[in-house]
Amino acid sequence: MTEEFVVVPLHDDKFSQFATECAEMLCKEWKRSVGMRERKLQQSNDDFPYHVIMLRFVGKDAELIGHARITKVMNKPRALYFSSVIIKDHKRGQGLGLKLMLLAEEHMRGKGFHTFYLRTDVMKFYHKCGYQKCDPIQEVANSKMEGKISQLSDLYGKASTPCQTRTTANQDHIEKTPASYPQDVPIAPPPPPIPKSSCAPCKTASLYNDVDDDECSEFQCKFWMKKVVPPNS
Ligand SMILES: CC(C)(COP(=O)(O)OP(=O)(O)OC[C@H]1O[C@@H](n2cnc3c(N)ncnc32)[C@H](O)[C@@H]1OP(=O)(O)O)[C@@H](O)C(=O)NCCC(=O)NCCS
Repeated sequence: MTEEFVVVPLHDDKFSQFATECAEMLCKEWKRSVGMRERKLQQSNDDFPYHVIMLRFVGKDAELIGHARITKVMNKPRALYFSSVIIKDHKRGQGLGLKLMLLAEEHMRGKGFHTFYLRTDVMKFYHKCGYQKCDPIQEVANSKMEGKISQLSDLYGKASTPCQTRTTANQDHIEKTPASYPQDVPIAPPPPPIPKSSCAPCKTASLYNDVDDDECSEFQCKFWMKKVVPPNS
């Protein structure tokens, strides 16, 4: 009998029975409580976060092979963000990771999305999948949260691109201080490094994002990567 690989939403009733096994697969790679992980997976829905699983069908028998979590990107309505990409450990190295990414992208292209972002330490794998290094973006769990963050950013005016302003905050202090201080007054030491999510919009973003920070996601992995798949390609 021939085998077939499909990518399906975990929130499709026909496939929700794979939630526990999927949680266990994720926990094996990134230690967490299986129960908590399963509850997160059960939050999968059409308005994001959207969890997909890849299944291998032989006849009617389905086997879980992999998973990816998909969320939105702030101010980029046609873009999505991949995280928690995983292939079952004994199935790795057979081209299935590449298949998962291509099928997941195709699945989401069918819903009108054409640009895909992720953050990773395994650039070689994603290069093989067609991704290139890019500038950081702001991931957001879903459209509702995007609206809330946007409102908050408006309130904070200039801080509407908070993640970029974060790195320049300390430099501002250093650049402005010497010129305005009299020579005999000791210059105050620079402020301590700004903690993660220190500004309100960033903090809110990460709260609402429900960040899985050990799974090649926000704040963790080094390289941002992007792939644009034009329509009809
Ligand atoms: C990363 C992962 C999804 C790749 O899946 P996979 O099925 O093993 O990958 P594939 O067999 O499709 O590999 C495709 C190509 O990427 C390369 N590749 C795969 N994993 C790689 C890794 N960790 N580092 C460098 N290159 C890798 C392969 O060598 C292959 O290249 P080749 O065609 O020249 O041989 C899988 O190893 C995994 O689940 N890892 C643990 C979780 C993880 O790290 N996820 C990524 C989070 S950002």
